[in-house]
Amino acid sequence: MNNLKIGVAITGSFCTFEKTLYSLKELKNVYSNLFPIFSYAASSINTRYYKADEYINSVSKLCGNKPIITLTDAEPMGPVGGLDLLIVIPCTGNTLAKLHLGITDTPVSMVAKAQLRNNKPVLIVLSTNDALSANLKSISELLNRKNVYLVPFGQDDYLNKPYSLKSDFSSILDSIGYALEGKQLQPILKAIV
Ligand SMILES: Cc1cc2nc3c(=O)[nH]c(=O)nc-3n(C[C@H](O)[C@H](O)[C@H](O)COP(=O)(O)O)c2cc1C
Repeated sequence: MNNLKIGVAITGSFCTFEKTLYSLKELKNVYSNLFPIFSYAASSINTRYYKADEYINSVSKLCGNKPIITLTDAEPMGPVGGLDLLIVIPCTGNTLAKLHLGITDTPVSMVAKAQLRNNKPVLIVLSTNDALSANLKSISELLNRKNVYLVPFGQDDYLNKPYSLKSDFSSILDSIGYALEGKQLQPILKAIV
């Protein structure tokens, strides 16, 4: 078991919540210190997938730490630092654009800002229908950003969602290992099934 501190930042790609929970269980087997952070959308919107409170409870119980759901909770991450890596899982197009443009108005974007300020890695697990349209600029910019890494991704349903990209969830653990060493896992383009 590894004692590194991993921030788990969850944003509003609600259809990926179940897959995310499964990945967090795998993560917990390797990294004992997981710190959950939720965007306002993720912590407040009830959907057909999950009730917001239920999901926060499940993730927090699994991580074993209190959830960060406000900017006030998130702010100390800057001066105090302390996370070895922040994984944004899943990352919406909205949060991706915020990371690109330096907008810090949610707990997730705030902690990401703190990570980058402290020269620590941020790893992005993409899940957005707009990746090959409105968000493509953000992806290309973040691929070139110091300390930002992406879990390899591909088109998850090119017939019905031609602009959609999703990260390959089976590459998450390897991507974390690479990001902790300051490297991007390759190949970055994957066939998603
Ligand atoms: C049921 C539902 C599913 C959604 N799925 C996605 C998604 O997979 N990817 C995405 O980028 N946005 C998705 N959205 C939209 C985001 O939740 C919305 O843009 C929100 O403002 C994101 O805020 P956040 O990035 O701060 O979490 C979904 C919204 C709803 C209600």
